[in-house]
Amino acid sequence: MPPVAETTLGVKGDFPIFTRRFDGHELIYLDSASTSQKPAVVIEAVAEHLRSHNANIHRGVYPLAQEADAAYDGARERVAAFVGAGEQATIFTKNVTEAINLVAYAWGRANVGPGQAVLITQMEHHANIVPWQVLCRERGAQLRYLEVDERGELSLQALERELARGDVALVAFAHVSNVLGTINPVAAMAARVRAAGAVSLVDGAQAVPHMPVDVEAIGADFYAWTGHKALGPTGVGVLHGRREILEAMEPFLTGGDMIASVDFQSATWNELPAKFEAGTPMIAEAVGLGAAVCYLSEVGMERVRAHERELTAHMLEALAQVPQLRVVGPPEAERRGGLASFTIEGIHAHDIAELTARRGVCIRAGHHCAQPLMRCLGVAATARASVGVYSEPEDIDALVDALSAARQVFELR
Ligand SMILES: Cc1ncc(COP(=O)(O)O)c(C=O)c1O
Repeated sequence: MPPVAETTLGVKGDFPIFTRRFDGHELIYLDSASTSQKPAVVIEAVAEHLRSHNANIHRGVYPLAQEADAAYDGARERVAAFVGAGEQATIFTKNVTEAINLVAYAWGRANVGPGQAVLITQMEHHANIVPWQVLCRERGAQLRYLEVDERGELSLQALERELARGDVALVAFAHVSNVLGTINPVAAMAARVRAAGAVSLVDGAQAVPHMPVDVEAIGADFYAWTGHKALGPTGVGVLHGRREILEAMEPFLTGGDMIASVDFQSATWNELPAKFEAGTPMIAEAVGLGAAVCYLSEVGMERVRAHERELTAHMLEALAQVPQLRVVGPPEAERRGGLASFTIEGIHAHDIAELTARRGVCIRAGHHCAQPLMRCLGVAATARASVGVYSEPEDIDALVDALSAARQVFELR
């Protein structure tokens, strides 16, 4: 049965930041694709950990240290379960950027070389472009791009054609584009990559906070995401990997906690996941992320997706009423995550964002860390409105009013 669509989840009151006022205006936060706001339970989980359970992990034998161990390990358990991944193959990183770099360095340097290629797509965030550029330059490999069509979608046939060339070592692609909003067919893509004997990496930064994600069912070799967009604190990200691949990999960063033993000239590595978590990790942040995924699970990810799809449909309809406004990406809300990037002829994207901000409406403007995609779209920048669990239809209405006011400032007809 399809999930029931809801235009409000009624959870805004769980997020203390929405009591703030800016020049007398309510906070209308439509920048969740940049980072999400945090519910009180997450803020309190971090504070309570620091207040009452703080000690370093995996080192102490005293009860307080054991509490800290349990809090950190418990957070991993929750985070892994949230996306149907194995705990041992769930590694905490600083963010999704570090997770992708981990793969590019630890897997890429050992497995990509001259005569081989890394395939990414034109819709990637810089976090899923630059690590591959650096890897390919260093290892004498080729970096190739899957094209984005005029609807803002990828083609499975084009992926098959690229794989058929026989030289692709790794394919990396976004689950949901942070500019176009496109939801990519990641399970079908991962299956084709696997059938071709290559390794796949999915950047799930814009998917995990907004829809049910089952890492096991998607079947990619690596799936990475970032905590701060998923109601968690900054400073914590996640990499899920296929266990046998992670086991075969050399570490990324080295030092304390990731070793089994150290001699004067050499060392051996700890088991997963510790092998990839050198040094004291982001303990309180991981605890906060654990609380965030519990909160999201309680709301229910099917409901979150249904809610955001409804809001997106409303947003697309409302934006279509604004003259000279062009939304990029697939026209159907069904095909996209909860965001819309757009241009208005005659107003620069930065001016749009600045003018909406005067009414308390926070949207993002710029290249959204996707400069190659901006070139494909033939624009220097777009404005982007993006929703989260706390967003409501009134937020979209406030945006549209603010856009009409902005058009008046620029005397557009
Ligand atoms: C699709 C995508 N990938 C990667 C990132 C980078 O996230 P972080 O800065 O948390 O590493 C973002 C953030 O905007 C994103 O939207």
